[in-house]
Amino acid sequence: MNDQQQAAPEQMVFPVPEDFAKAAKCDKARYEEMYRRSVSDPDGFWGEHGKRLDWFSPYKTVKNTSFENDVSIKWFEDGTLNASYNCIDRHLPEKANDVALIWEGDNPAYHYSITYQQLYIHVCRFANVLKKMGVKKGDRVTLYMPMIVETAYAMLACARIGAVHSIVFGGFSAEALAGRINDCKSEWAITCDEGVRAGKSVPLKANLDKAAEHCPGLKGVLVVRHTGGAVDWVEGRDIWYHDAALDVSSACEPEVMNAEDPLFILYTSGSTGQPKGVLHTTGGYLVWASMTHEYVFDYRPGEVYWCAADVGWVTGHSYIIYGPLANGATSLMFEGVPTYPDVDRFWRVIAKHKVNIFYTAPTALRALMREGDEPVERHDLSSLRILGSVGEPINPEAWLWYHRVVGKERCPIVDTWWQTETGGMMITPLPGAMDLKPGSATKPFFGVQTALVSSEGDLIEGAGEGNLVITDSWPGQARTVYGDHDRFIQTYFSTYKGLYFTGDGCRRDEDGYYWITGRVDDVINVSGHRMGTAEVESALVAHQLVAEAAVVGFPHDVKGQGIYCYVTLNAGLEPTDNLAKELRQWVRTEIGPIATPDHIHFTPALPKTRSGKIMRRILRKIAENEFGNLGDTSTLADPSVVDSLIEGRKVR
Ligand code: WTA
Repeated sequence: MNDQQQAAPEQMVFPVPEDFAKAAKCDKARYEEMYRRSVSDPDGFWGEHGKRLDWFSPYKTVKNTSFENDVSIKWFEDGTLNASYNCIDRHLPEKANDVALIWEGDNPAYHYSITYQQLYIHVCRFANVLKKMGVKKGDRVTLYMPMIVETAYAMLACARIGAVHSIVFGGFSAEALAGRINDCKSEWAITCDEGVRAGKSVPLKANLDKAAEHCPGLKGVLVVRHTGGAVDWVEGRDIWYHDAALDVSSACEPEVMNAEDPLFILYTSGSTGQPKGVLHTTGGYLVWASMTHEYVFDYRPGEVYWCAADVGWVTGHSYIIYGPLANGATSLMFEGVPTYPDVDRFWRVIAKHKVNIFYTAPTALRALMREGDEPVERHDLSSLRILGSVGEPINPEAWLWYHRVVGKERCPIVDTWWQTETGGMMITPLPGAMDLKPGSATKPFFGVQTALVSSEGDLIEGAGEGNLVITDSWPGQARTVYGDHDRFIQTYFSTYKGLYFTGDGCRRDEDGYYWITGRVDDVINVSGHRMGTAEVESALVAHQLVAEAAVVGFPHDVKGQGIYCYVTLNAGLEPTDNLAKELRQWVRTEIGPIATPDHIHFTPALPKTRSGKIMRRILRKIAENEFGNLGDTSTLADPSVVDSLIEGRKVR
């Protein structure tokens, strides 16, 4: 251990390992040079790097973007291409027999590999089935699928025929699913009989049936058989995939898409209202996903790469499917959970498939860290070369454990900061170019112009802390909120005019390293899942006994943040343990298990200003057990509410 490593974790610096500096795609000098060019000459830089994709007809215009007024973002706008072609067909001459996907089942007995040639056949057949159903270019197709290879086929098949996929995470409830189907007017859905997680089945088709009762526009449901579990059937609407695939061709010409044609919609939470359908388009997104995947993971041909996210989240889109497959990589898809059948499952999978690059979320690491070092040490992890982290700030303790116990102090950790809206990684180490500091996402990727602003909107120069904004467009950026461009402008470009506001707080140190401090809006991050407190509140008040609710996050050892709900019941009702239980179950049914409240705090009233605004700052402090530090409570309509809230901190 050197001197630095005895310092406080935040002060430690882990230099680039020598072999990385020598062999990596990008060393310190090259990073500086490429970064400089990417921001001083974006047209030249991206004009060159856009060529990493195969274009049917090349682009002439590279960047045409404005963060002002109506906000218009276009990249490579006169080029044409197809994402599925770029992820499959173009690899066939050289890589037909290379493995594209390794599938590892929830049950460790089940695993298999799919080569690029096989992927081509599966995706073409899937695409032909979609066409036979009547799906056309531009149609939205909702996927409610588990982590099986057919989900990858379905995504790439949509891309192949120019349909726009909208994946709804399999952990969302029927109600949440229905809202997303209706919002994007999706006439088509793809699901499977059941998913499997930790040995238990998840009734996906049954949930979709329930959702469909509220989706009058839904015309066809394609059902993949996975477990063989019994399902209800709606004649004329439901189609078994294996039946429909019997008589389709295994070749399907890729549709010629404009760079700015939509590729997918993905719903994500904000501080207000219902989730927004974030829209990504074809060219810029794919350039971004593939280039970040290659540089950040220092990806080398032949390596086995595993991103342990779910395809229902943006991480799965960009770093299980589009990025790695566009690069001709071998991407592992894992159906299960980190703790089944045992707490060593992640490490068992890494040893079994000789994984070289592993990418997961801090919440999983914190949960596994609690099990001690022994489950990790049971396995030979010598294949590992790079470790990644995503989804929430990684606390230095978890970082150090990951580095020491999993990476044996050999493997650089790339702590990648980004968002559904950014399409791919934004602030991240490049393993050969950046010395690492535990807890810092380090520096911006090529073309990312980061800045910090005070709440008044003044730019903060040098070291300091503020709100993180991006001052100019990058190719992977979301183009709009589906069907509501005003909401896009309002949400991201109105807080600070002409700047993209991330919603995150951030500190920049003397070395120009960025340290994300977490959301500054009413978005919480529970086990790496992004959620709007407003969504949980509207679920609670939808219960007939609830008069009012306010929801805040609070620090949680494993989840990062937990969900703390203040609930006022209708007049005359007495709170009981059973009612707390019922409300918890209610939120699970309304949104999904990921939104299960940790605490229900019944209170006769909420702290409000005289104009009726709930003072969340106070609610956050009380949830954090920080009673001494409540700030100014004199503007409250009834300051005595605070005392009774502190009194009632004993929660159910
Ligand atoms: C948080 C997930 C700190 C952040 C890719 C962001 C992070 C939100 C990191 C986006 C990180 C993501 N360090 N915080 N490395 N990565 N976040 O849209 O608050 O699900 O705004 O995208 O997660 O969540 P989303």
